[in-house]
Amino acid sequence: MKDVIIMAIETSCDETSVALVKNGKDILSNIISSQIDLHEKFGGVVPEIASRKHIENIDPVIQEALDVAHVSLEDIDAIAVTYGPGLVGALLVGLAEAKAIAFATNKPLIGIHHIEGHISANYIENDFQPPFIGMVVSGGHTHLVHVKDYGVYEILGKTRDDAAGEAFDKVARAIGLGYPGGPKIDKIAKEGDENAIEFPRSYLENGSYDFSFSGVKSAVLNYINQCKMKDEPIHVPNIAASFQKAVVEVIVNKTIKAAQTEGLHKVALAGGVAANSKLREMMTIACKEADIVLNYPSPVYCTDNAAMIGVAAYHEYLKGVRHTMALNAVPYLKL
Ligand code: KG4
Ligand code: ZN
Repeated sequence: MKDVIIMAIETSCDETSVALVKNGKDILSNIISSQIDLHEKFGGVVPEIASRKHIENIDPVIQEALDVAHVSLEDIDAIAVTYGPGLVGALLVGLAEAKAIAFATNKPLIGIHHIEGHISANYIENDFQPPFIGMVVSGGHTHLVHVKDYGVYEILGKTRDDAAGEAFDKVARAIGLGYPGGPKIDKIAKEGDENAIEFPRSYLENGSYDFSFSGVKSAVLNYINQCKMKDEPIHVPNIAASFQKAVVEVIVNKTIKAAQTEGLHKVALAGGVAANSKLREMMTIACKEADIVLNYPSPVYCTDNAAMIGVAAYHEYLKGVRHTMALNAVPYLKL
């Protein structure tokens, strides 16, 4: 079969990323221009600033992705782009660019769901295929999904309040670690005692695969306030480690339960929080005990990147999925 080369564009949040992906697996280039420095001083992503920066970044990032891959626009079989969920202004920059290229080159346009991209990152480095249980933990999403086939999903549960990454970021801000908090908590937790403070684990109703992280977040904030009131020192590494353990434990237990109940022996982690070392460690142990094969992408494919969008798009391309120029950004797009 002829090679299929897809150019993928991802601008749903604060990363401008463009990748060239061959046959859904071979990452010819994956350029990621992060805006973290710009948003850091505001303690989180400022949507207006993100959109403006994407506009500045997108053309040079596309050029770099083509150069690194040694590919020209004529060699491309399709243009893929994240069209939701995400920040609407940010999504529109990638979408307008993808449409312009598709129109000018007369190549097909394929819109991709951001979470489908995160899940598809698991197909890059290892020979890992559906069906499996996917645990998507990112800054905006916490979805426990039965991945029945490429692009075929059954959502078993999701967060009812904060996303896992959002809880990491908010707690990090409260203990003075700054933005983005996830990697900073991960790092400093290694110096702490994870059993120092007993933060609550929220399992919700019996058998529920939904998540709630606002309780543990509030418990950390209360704990800090109490320390301040009593004039006691705040031990940042202990708080980070104890909070991290409380969050990770619930994610691991619910994922294993889902795999066993659905009769699946394969689990995959996805999204920015899948880069968390404690989550990887505890999930590895739990999967081993339960005789489950675990897969997770390298950190660069866990956080936002366009390679994962190109991989997801390849499977849509094979199915014949094509979008028209009427494709719009959908900030709350459902999986
Ligand atoms: O997938 P992602 O790049 O963007 C969204 O789609 O939301 O995820 C970003 C989130 C942020 O909340 C960040 O703090 C978190 O992933 N994150 C981590 C780690 N690396 C990134 N959380 C915990 N531990 C990490 N090592
Ligand atoms: Zn993401």
